[in-house]
Amino acid sequence: MAILSCLFRLIKWLFVLCALIYFIHLWLQTKNYVFSHERLHEISSKHAGTKDVQRAMQAIHRDLLKEYPGHIMLAKDLQWGFTNAGGVMCSMCFLHGSITEYVMFYGCILDTMGHSGRYMANISDTVLSGEIRVWNEGDLTAKAYKQGDYIFHPRGNAAAVSFDAGTFMVEYARGFIPQIMSFGSADSIFSTQDFIGLFSMMRNYGKCMWMETLHCMASLQTMFQ
Ligand SMILES: *[C@@H]1O[C@H](CO)[C@@H](O)[C@H](O)[C@H]1NC(C)=O
Repeated sequence: MAILSCLFRLIKWLFVLCALIYFIHLWLQTKNYVFSHERLHEISSKHAGTKDVQRAMQAIHRDLLKEYPGHIMLAKDLQWGFTNAGGVMCSMCFLHGSITEYVMFYGCILDTMGHSGRYMANISDTVLSGEIRVWNEGDLTAKAYKQGDYIFHPRGNAAAVSFDAGTFMVEYARGFIPQIMSFGSADSIFSTQDFIGLFSMMRNYGKCMWMETLHCMASLQTMFQ
């Protein structure tokens, strides 16, 4: 009897989980978004040809500030920090973050490779420097992407990814970001145990969310004036 009631409880929670995922999915399909994959690629690729990748990132940041005021972190608040996920060790810098979107600079100074992650989100990258090789699940060849190229990683897909030393990109994710963050923190918790790095990543993401909250409150205020 105990086993049966345990089974019922399990089924109940599975049902709740499925319902939750279904509603998140519906919400993601119908909500409005601040950014778009196409526009971000347009802005990023305009500067991708610059030899000096730091200058390119500064120019992209300036353009984004102009186009999305109130949604992009100011230069003084930008902070690079390590991220370990799926065996890949890179550095990232949040420009924008909310529950359903993020925009970041992402890259590595040393060669690195691993699992891309399988997400409830579509992710696109514009390569600013270096080279990325992507081996998609089911394929027997890998594709190489260089400066100015656009990479689309659809939700639910997995790939092996390899970044050459000195690779940097602009990354945009649209979907359920907390699920990406859970993948993004797993290596820090169970492998590197770099809790200070993890805290710093969460704090930067939190700062972005706070900025979005303030922006949302400000627009509500103007609506009721
Ligand atoms: C992700 O991309 C697919 C097409 O590949 C699209 O049907 C879906 O609506 C996108 N999801 C989000 C959250 O943008």
